[in-house]
Amino acid sequence: MLFSSAPARVCINEVAVRDGFQSEPGFIPTEQKIQLIDRLSEIGLARIEVTSFVSPKAVPNLRDAQEVMLGIRRDPGVVYAALVPNERGCERALECRVDEINLVMSAGETHNLANMRMTHEMSLDQFRRVMSLVQGTTTRVNGCVATAFGCPFEGQQSVAKVMAIVAKYLDIGMHSITLADTTGMASPQQVGELCHAFLAAYPDVPLTVHFHNTRGMGLANVIAALDAGVDSFDASLGGIGGCPFAPGATGNICTEDLVHMLASCGIDTGMDLDALIGIARDLPSLVGHDVPGQVLRAGKSSDLHPRPSTVPA
Ligand code: COA
Ligand code: ZN
Repeated sequence: MLFSSAPARVCINEVAVRDGFQSEPGFIPTEQKIQLIDRLSEIGLARIEVTSFVSPKAVPNLRDAQEVMLGIRRDPGVVYAALVPNERGCERALECRVDEINLVMSAGETHNLANMRMTHEMSLDQFRRVMSLVQGTTTRVNGCVATAFGCPFEGQQSVAKVMAIVAKYLDIGMHSITLADTTGMASPQQVGELCHAFLAAYPDVPLTVHFHNTRGMGLANVIAALDAGVDSFDASLGGIGGCPFAPGATGNICTEDLVHMLASCGIDTGMDLDALIGIARDLPSLVGHDVPGQVLRAGKSSDLHPRPSTVPA
């Protein structure tokens, strides 16, 4: 076994239709979003982040959040989540009976101001209001710490600062936590440190990590997180994605590359890799451009080529 404490089974959460589509230059038609999510529901994903209930002026590509959430077929084995920035977003999400609300605040306050136009205190105040709105419903709340491994304006964020935000989230009553490397600044060393600190402090709180491959360290960071014992990963079909409010942001780690790597390490994801690659193959025509995923181009490492005729049998 490659890792001393890696889990034997990990959950994969698809974020292409939220993190990916939010930054696409063109609007993806609502019906096509729904068709894609319905296909993604059938291949073993644990969770799909369907959309964002944010201001349509801030993220015009996701202005159809309600129609998408109400139009998809909901598989009882999949958690359907949506990003929510404030109380207004929570009301809209609850109208659509989302399974999980993903509340996002950046560790770097400068990025939070650029992205959400709120200070930390303003975001936390909105989150407290969200928690009272969800009381008595079946909707769960996940707290995402964005820029947890580095802010594009402020630089690296300390473990102590991120852990203090996590403590506030849990104090407010959030059910689970995501640590997000919004602009791909994390290194495997840093991922190991923060994930170890989190799991030592909160062994029973579900933790997801969310990496971007902006500097080519995405899958190396997954290995570091696995080694620390993390068992839930966000990833994006084709490797699309990126925050529109961070300079130079690029795609998430690619779902099919991640699942392919985990399968080759003997780690079970419960995913149908061939079906996943089949869906990824249709993505470039949907978004109108090439996507960064590598397995899509190269094929699986088990896909062998015919023996060249120039090589004697
Ligand atoms: N859903 C829909 N509309 C919303 C909304 C929500 N959750 N929150 C606010 N609005 C509307 C308001 O009704 C108002 O509309 P109006 O101009 O027609 O009156 C407008 O948006 C501005 O509202 P305000 O409260 O002043 O917000 P703001 O302009 O300070 O923006 C956010 C704050 C959080 C709403 C906005 O920055 C946002 O949606 N950010 C999301 C960014 C994002 O998704 N980033 C990528 C993910 S990491
Ligand atoms: Zn992201």
